[in-house]
Amino acid sequence: MTPRWVVLKFGGTSVSTLTRWETIARIIQDRLAEGLRPVVVCSALSGISNALERLLREAIAGRGAEVLASIRQPHLALGQAMALDAEALLQPYFEELERIALGASLLGEATPRLQARVMAMGELMATTLGAAYLNRMGLRTRWWDVRELLETVEETHANEARRYLSATCAYGPDPSLQERMAAEPSDVILTQGFIARNRRGETVLLGRGGSDTSAAYLAAKLQAQRLEIWTDVPGMFTANPRQIPSARLLRHLDYDEAQELATTGAKVLHPRCLEPVRAYRIPLHVKSTDHPELEGTIVSAEAPDVGPRVKAISCKTGITLVSMDTVGMWQQVGFLADVFAVFKRHGLSIDLVATSETNVTVSLDPQANALGPAQLEALLEALSAYCQARAIGPCAVVSLVGRHIRALLDELAPAFEVFGEHRIYLISQAASDLNFSFVVDEDQAERLVRRLHAELFGRLEADALFGPTWRELFAPKPPVTPAQPWWHRRQKELLEVARQHAPCYVYDEGTLSAQLEALRTVRAIDRVFYALKANDHPEVLRVFYEAGLGFECVSPGELKHLRQLFPTLAPERVLFTPNFAAAEEYQEAFAQGIFVTLDNLQALEAWPELFRGRSVLVRFDPGRGAGHHRYVRTAGAQSKFGIAPADAERLCTLANQLQLHIIGLHAHVGSGILQPETWAETALFLAELAEAYFPEVRYLDVGGGLGVADRTGVPGLDLEAVESHLERFKAAHPRYELWLEPGRFLVADAGVLLARVTQIKTKNGARYIGLETGMNSLIRPTLYGAYHEIVNLSRLDAPATQTVDVVGPICETGDVLGYSRRLPDTQPGDVLLIAQAGAYGAVMQSHYNRRQPAREIFLSATAAPSTPTFTQTTVAS
Ligand code: LLP
Repeated sequence: MTPRWVVLKFGGTSVSTLTRWETIARIIQDRLAEGLRPVVVCSALSGISNALERLLREAIAGRGAEVLASIRQPHLALGQAMALDAEALLQPYFEELERIALGASLLGEATPRLQARVMAMGELMATTLGAAYLNRMGLRTRWWDVRELLETVEETHANEARRYLSATCAYGPDPSLQERMAAEPSDVILTQGFIARNRRGETVLLGRGGSDTSAAYLAAKLQAQRLEIWTDVPGMFTANPRQIPSARLLRHLDYDEAQELATTGAKVLHPRCLEPVRAYRIPLHVKSTDHPELEGTIVSAEAPDVGPRVKAISCKTGITLVSMDTVGMWQQVGFLADVFAVFKRHGLSIDLVATSETNVTVSLDPQANALGPAQLEALLEALSAYCQARAIGPCAVVSLVGRHIRALLDELAPAFEVFGEHRIYLISQAASDLNFSFVVDEDQAERLVRRLHAELFGRLEADALFGPTWRELFAPKPPVTPAQPWWHRRQKELLEVARQHAPCYVYDEGTLSAQLEALRTVRAIDRVFYALKANDHPEVLRVFYEAGLGFECVSPGELKHLRQLFPTLAPERVLFTPNFAAAEEYQEAFAQGIFVTLDNLQALEAWPELFRGRSVLVRFDPGRGAGHHRYVRTAGAQSKFGIAPADAERLCTLANQLQLHIIGLHAHVGSGILQPETWAETALFLAELAEAYFPEVRYLDVGGGLGVADRTGVPGLDLEAVESHLERFKAAHPRYELWLEPGRFLVADAGVLLARVTQIKTKNGARYIGLETGMNSLIRPTLYGAYHEIVNLSRLDAPATQTVDVVGPICETGDVLGYSRRLPDTQPGDVLLIAQAGAYGAVMQSHYNRRQPAREIFLSATAAPSTPTFTQTTVAS
């Protein structure tokens, strides 16, 4: 009977400690119990391949001994942990390494052939220790030199380095090998990754990371049942999970998708390992040695077909672009052939290409090319015979990977909004329709991936294709959103309020205080001005007033409202930050003695006397906005706010002419931001401007915009990280007082909107639940596509049984408070609760259709509900 083979590959970190070898032994036993014959392929111990590479370099310079010691030591330590005599087992290898190092130092050079021999030692030593250990553990293990098993295909056109260091092997089914191995009277065959032999019997390498490929070759030759790649991450994810912890495990991929991911930068699998398993439809499992219990990713021909879908975002850095301007040459026959021949002569392989009538731009991938400054210089020089060539870099390629991306373009449109602020050098859509790639500046890449990931995957739930997030698997859950929001606890009171006053907003004092407390943990902030545009209910303002906060106002109406509520409020607790305001508004603000922010130089030119001798803050535009939707990003090319840094000099001149004192700088980049570095970045931007131009500046106002998680159980803004970024800034710039203008963060969670169900309708299979109020009370879903959790407060504990759109009564198709929501059986008269409506809810409502919007009710921490206040009476006029 032919054995059913399984090939298991363990990478460097998976073979470096005794604990991991114990896991390997257990996994082998499990496979034997399944009736499979395991062939185990191992890499060198972590760090050893790098050390071996260094050995030759250092040996040439006469400093090989130290590196040799750093190679021996981890092997001896592992051997000792395994209770083996590693010294004796590995002596022949150590001696050979010494001999080679000596030879290299005498010759003063290391040929690729020699390099291959040296590098091979890492795998040979690791497997020697591994085989001895497994045998000692009672697993009959046959150590096999992989150079007997894998032979290269000679590439006649390849240069010497490629032939010895990045070779490819034949992998067609190999019955004679199958027979030889089947005849072997052992439980397990243990062999090396990364190395092979050529026709002359010399050692060659399969390229860095080539152990995956060795294992795939063997799986194909043996026609294995499956290939398992055991590594330090538990599978492939929707993005690099170490960068984006909300990335989800990809449970299934087909070969093409996995290939595309590996090629576009996901480092879990080596790109070359997929072809051999794809050719024979051998399933490939990616698993984690640290967590063998996790399901991992399965790459197979049986991946479920879910139609067009982006499955992952990958990113490759270190990319150099070569831009070739071809003015006057475009219609010249053979232009592309000529310039591409130059790349060929310089041994450079081109990745992406974009052409226009006057320019051809190509990207060079560092994985495929050794491109130092000298090579680049030589390339540009050679290209100058045909065109004006220049290098752009370092860049990164960000790729969206998935099936039929072309069919998705209209759905992707909102995600592409994030490109509004990024310079894109090149866009490429793979002919295979498996990826859509963008080349951007390298320092923008991580941010871009983060944002794209949030847009494309942020709302996803786990399903057959997308598994748990990295954070769910590993990270301790941050205590951001309380397990049960306040409205669970106050359900009874809320139902009573709704009975009397719905539709109504209800605010919870306890939550306001809790948010205040949370904000106080950001100790680097010296003054907080609450942005009262978020919620200006008198009782809400009173809580902040009593807590000693200042207030940020943007209109005379807000200033008046504040003065009426708190007539004795000290002027230095008020900051006026208008935009495109009339002269009288500034006049009024100066008369009140409050802080005033200026965000347009034309005001100084048009009304010099208004500003003469005054002290002001000036709002600058840092050039890049942030926030939950493009309408709330208040910096960058498309924003009307602030002064461009390029105008700083002109501002200085005007300020001097008017004896205007610039005592503070301000920037607010947007609203609903969850990236904790944002405010320190703004502070740094402002400090640099202050240092360059404005010696009188004492205050740096880094704006508001602190985001909140928009659903229960999802992590919100990491305040500790905000604090630590700001503390670092402060330590470097102690002379400035830092100001913050939060709105949403303080009030969003504290408010809910309660509305009764009027009607229920099923139409064309879609189910609608209609409420007595809609976009006239809460416009955020319509305006920004904002997500607000919706629950049936009358049946809070009933299980969800239906998927519905929750709509209002307004004559607009966009009058939808929530699409595709899961709700329990719901009846007319039930009270639905729309959560997180405390910020930008009541303040943005309207009387559209002459429908009265929701009232506002304040629930104090202890007392019964206050007398209801009609919203319009609380808006100053
Ligand atoms: N400071 C300035 C200068 C602002 O323009 C804003 C908000 C804030 C502070 C407070 O930002 P917050 O901390 O609340 O994010 N209606 C949108 C939000 C618009 C924000 C406008 N400016 C929404 O419902 O999401």
